Amino acid sequence: MSYPPSISRKFWGLDFDSPIMLASGTAGFGEELLTLDCLSGVGVVVSKAVSFKPRAGNPPPRLFETPLGLLNSIGLANPGVHHVLNHILPLTEKLPCPLLINVAGESIQEFSDVVEVLEQSKTHLGYEINVSCPNVADGGAAFGVDPDVVFQIAKGVSRVTDRPFSVKLTPNGGDMVMVAKAAVDGGASAITVCNTFLGMFVDWRTGKSVIKRKVAGYTSPALLPLVVARVWQVSNAVSVPVISSGGVSHGEDILQLLAAGASMVQVGTRLMRRPFAGAELMDEMQKLIGE
Ligand SMILES: Cc1cc2nc3c(=O)[nH]c(=O)nc-3n(C[C@H](O)[C@H](O)[C@H](O)COP(=O)(O)O)c2cc1C
Repeated sequence: MSYPPSISRKFWGLDFDSPIMLASGTAGFGEELLTLDCLSGVGVVVSKAVSFKPRAGNPPPRLFETPLGLLNSIGLANPGVHHVLNHILPLTEKLPCPLLINVAGESIQEFSDVVEVLEQSKTHLGYEINVSCPNVADGGAAFGVDPDVVFQIAKGVSRVTDRPFSVKLTPNGGDMVMVAKAAVDGGASAITVCNTFLGMFVDWRTGKSVIKRKVAGYTSPALLPLVVARVWQVSNAVSVPVISSGGVSHGEDILQLLAAGASMVQVGTRLMRRPFAGAELMDEMQKLIGE
């Protein structure tokens, strides 16, 4: 790699002018952002999680802004794979960039069942498999803490699709490098590093969490060094590209993640505050490196 890193990327054999991916759960399926003209500077859209059956998600309050970040406990709310296939994916045909579909499951089997249904659509490039979901049948810990389970999930997905897929790791338990290697052994074409960090905000007056489900996923610009370290560790351990996810608020953050080993860089919470983040971050990077 040469430094500073180039912001044009080759990823999964395709050429991208931008390293920016919109992170799952913060961009819908890209269809609304398209109508608002917010996709300039965006290389890839990653969809909200899709599960087999519709999910209402967790009861509110499920979002809380802290002084330095955001807690979310959305609970993978989505209309289910058949609704997504028949009613949402057709709206994404006009996206100016490729779409990855984020896939959730409550069992090892559900991940490949969802992908099998989505294979009927031609509109998307590939998948992001979200192994941060709780393994309901096996005590509720995230699938992603166990390399054997992640291997089985990836193997199951590779059996039902020839499209590329990334496995999105959890930072909350498990050895991320071991889990990443297991995902690659199972057929993953990339690793996303990583999902949200567990967090909580307690009202000291009442002793109660401000989030109904108590513990939530925390995102913050202050987490950037935690993500940089994990991107560096995982990208040095696996042969497939690493997609970073977490902590970006400036163009310089993206350059740092690319220099640490990321092939593409996701932007989530920043987009919720700045819908034109794609164009703004590209502009910042271009000014920094003079491309
Ligand atoms: C409101 C919200 C919803 C999210 N939903 C999902 C999801 O459905 N699937 C998933 O894999 N990650 C989900 N995430 C995690 C993001 O995709 C991303 O990994 C995380 O926010 C870190 O990036 P950031 O610091 O740029 O926000 C969600 C995050 C937020 C803030």
